[in-house]
This record gives sequence, structure tokens and C-alpha cells, in this order.
Amino acid sequence: MFGTIMRFRTKSGLMIELAPLNREDMPEFVKNGGLQTHNVNKFLGRFNAPVLEDEYEWFDKARADKDDIIWGIYVVDGETRTLIGNTGLHDINGDMYSPCKSATSGFMIFRPEFWGKGIAGACHRARTMYAFDDLGLVVIRSGVIFENEASRRAVESVGYVVHHMDRMGHLYKGEPRFDYNLQCINPDKYVWSYWWRNEKPTKKWLEGRKKTIEALEWARQHVERP
Ligand SMILES: CC(C)(COP(=O)(O)OP(=O)(O)OC[C@H]1O[C@@H](n2cnc3c(N)ncnc32)[C@H](O)[C@@H]1OP(=O)(O)O)[C@@H](O)C(=O)NCCC(=O)NCCS
Repeated sequence: MFGTIMRFRTKSGLMIELAPLNREDMPEFVKNGGLQTHNVNKFLGRFNAPVLEDEYEWFDKARADKDDIIWGIYVVDGETRTLIGNTGLHDINGDMYSPCKSATSGFMIFRPEFWGKGIAGACHRARTMYAFDDLGLVVIRSGVIFENEASRRAVESVGYVVHHMDRMGHLYKGEPRFDYNLQCINPDKYVWSYWWRNEKPTKKWLEGRKKTIEALEWARQHVERP
């Protein structure tokens, strides 16, 4: 399934729209390299290059899957709307027994010329608001490979905290490396205490909570939701 439209500006003033994807947009993902390049795939743990048929198949699955909420990431400049990536909250209901509602994070900009412009940070603020304010999730999980500093910093900016690291999560230039596993806990008073029960969260989790509260405050004020 797709998420509803959210519009906001990055710190540098770029207008971003998170919106449902159109089937006709799918060639963009593989046009001019995109998901067929090592440069993008190396951070996604992918070693295959999708072709257009794979993209249409992915679209059909994304549209129908009730456990996923997905958005296309568009840069809006006047009348021009450019698709540059996608983001999602995945496995929302999960197959396993779960005492709380959770999701895993996905985020990708397939056009490297749009990297480093604060787009991920801004999108995470809007998406975190959707996850906690609309869906009532308790926790969002994110897996980030060791070398992907920009992705880790983007999620940390909205309060994700490293919970643990996976040994040999992936190969980097032939060498086994670690993956970060991060979590963002819903800071709402009742949800927070439900999550932590009798445990006392350490300083890093309290700092994460503060950042999530700030991210939510920003998003509630600045994200336009037509
Ligand atoms: C990784 C990715 C998501 C980051 O998105 P982005 O819009 O470029 O990120 P931002 O511009 O919001 O930057 C996020 C943070 O990383 C920092 N950063 C940006 N580029 C960086 C780089 N090359 N190295 C280190 N830090 C970097 C920014 O300064 C910012 O930190 P700050 O909040 O402390 O200022 C994007 O590059 C991407 O989609 N890459 C390919 C696929 C991918 O890696 N997906 C994520 C899988 S977990």
C-alpha cells in the first residue's frame, strides 16, 4: 500500500513530496543507471541489477502488500516533479507473534546527484510522524551497513539509537563487516513506558527520545498534508 501525500521543505529549501508511486514512474528507477549501479546498490545489500519488468513486479507487490506503507520521493520545482527515490515502513504487522506494533525502515535515493542535500533527514521527520501519530507504532527498526555514514546519521537525527551490531552482516571489498541495527521508540509517555516496562533506559535512549520529540514537533508544524 502507499502512504498519503506529505509535503515539506528541507533545511536548504528544496520542496519534497512523499506520495504514492505511479506505475508509469517505474522506469525512472532503472533509467540512467539508478538501481542498476553498484554506487547505489552497495548500500542496499543488493548484488543484482533489476530491469524494468522487476520494477513493475515490485510496484504490483508494493501496491497490494497490506503490511507495507510506501512513498515515492519527489523533488518539486514549480510545475516539475522529479522522482528520486522511495521510502517505506515495512512488515508492519509481521508474521511472528509480537507484543507491539512495529515496522522496519527502508529509504533510498537512486539519483546520487540528490545525495547530501538533507532530503533523507527531512523525509525521516515526516515519516516518523506518520508512523507514530497515524499508525501508532511502538518501534521502528532500521538496518544500516557500517560504511553508510550518511544513512546512519539521517536516522540518528530523528532519534534512532544503535541497539546492536550484527557481525558479518555484509561483505565490503571482500571483507566481512558489521551492520548497525537501530531502533526509534515512540516517545509518547504511555507508549514509552509500555516499551521499557521496569527497565531504566540508558542515556543514549533518553537522548534519542529527545530528538524524536523534536522531530515530531517539527513535522507536525511543517509537513503539509493535503
Ligand atoms: C544514504 C542516503 C539515504 C542519505 O540520504 P541523503 O538525503 O543524502 O542524507 P542527508 O543529506 O539527509 O544527510 C544525512 C546526514 O549524513 C551526512 N552526510 C551526507 N553525506 C555524507 C557522506 N558522504 N558521508 C558522511 N556523512 C554524510 C549529512 O551531513 C547529514 O548529517 P547531519 O544530519 O549530521 O548533518 C542516500 O545517500 C541514499 O539513498 N543512498 C543510496 C541508498 C541507501 O544507502 N539507502 C539507505 C539504506 S539503509
